[in-house]
Amino acid sequence: MDTEGKGIYLDNAATSYPKPECVYQAVDRFLRQCGGSPGRASHRKAREADAVVADARASVATLFHVEDPSRIVFTCNSTESLNLAIRGSLRPGDHVVLTDLEHNAAVRPLWKLREGLGVGLTVVESGPEGVVDPARVAEALTPRTRLVCCVHANNVLGTIQPIAEIGHRTRARGVPLLVDASQSAGVLPIDVEAMGIDLLAFTGHKGLLGPPGTGGLYVREGLPLEPLKHGGTGVYSESLEPPDVMPEGYEPGTFNTPGLAGLAAGVRFVLETGAARIGAHERELNRRFVEGVREVPGVRLYGPSDLARKVGITLLNLEALDPADVGRILDRRFGVMVRTGLHCSALSHQRLGTKGRGAVRFSFGHFTTPADVDTAVEALRAMALATVS
Ligand code: ALA
Repeated sequence: MDTEGKGIYLDNAATSYPKPECVYQAVDRFLRQCGGSPGRASHRKAREADAVVADARASVATLFHVEDPSRIVFTCNSTESLNLAIRGSLRPGDHVVLTDLEHNAAVRPLWKLREGLGVGLTVVESGPEGVVDPARVAEALTPRTRLVCCVHANNVLGTIQPIAEIGHRTRARGVPLLVDASQSAGVLPIDVEAMGIDLLAFTGHKGLLGPPGTGGLYVREGLPLEPLKHGGTGVYSESLEPPDVMPEGYEPGTFNTPGLAGLAAGVRFVLETGAARIGAHERELNRRFVEGVREVPGVRLYGPSDLARKVGITLLNLEALDPADVGRILDRRFGVMVRTGLHCSALSHQRLGTKGRGAVRFSFGHFTTPADVDTAVEALRAMALATVS
């Protein structure tokens, strides 16, 4: 929606905007009326802050069908969650299976461990439709494999991966499955037990509709994991050794409590509206957009023709223009905001053959309207016609 003539925001895969009104109110209320530090004292403001954090943890646990909320560790974003899962799980000589659809947030820590610890990596290629075959993931497992890392929805093409089928195979082999839910949490139903997920990395500021600086990691009970950071936890303060307790042992330092208040409100909004319903709306906008731009001369669309296999993301290029110029003109002349370039996903662009100049990504959100989509289509049509004539 064009909020007060401020343009049309189609970059929801980077961060969702706007947020539901309840999210703004929750952050404001926490900062003005509560303001205490959770887990650090017994006065009323600290207890109120405790309740905010507990509420955020319980809401996230409900959304992902996690029975015990203490298995949710809060972090500042998916990148930190993925680093915790990867660095906390691996030892020298271990082997990891990942896909060619992973974001740099997973790929880069793995590459560093390959150099530093001699961790072996096998990259499973996705098929022509941008979807990984679970049988190929299973074939890549070796006796040394300590982790399988798979994105739920790719951030460049939006393709949805068959996580439950992969989880079924990894569970049968006793290998933990780490899923990056950055683009799927809040728009696709997620049930960690039913899908065989052992570690689920999520961010708060995209589909969960919360503020930036929030995120977390679900850790299956019984899975050993080394913390990334050490410090004050508010529990076992007499000990100089970091405490081995969930979740406090993984959450040293003062929380982004206003952010968690906003995250709890965002997740409640998702629970009330339904992730499946939010996802269906975004897919419908994607379908409208793709049908519109298919008719525009010189548009090259990437990704599967079956839009039901994607979240609300479309990647394209205009033949005659550099993607960075397309993004600039869309913003300056037409008020349409998108993300261009490589989207922090080098492997995905390498797979598509767009690693050189990148591409233009349109991503729709819960508050995007069909009229917004039509404006973007018409803007592309006008640009295409201007370059032809
Ligand atoms: N990973 C986010 C994106 O895809 C930032 O834009």
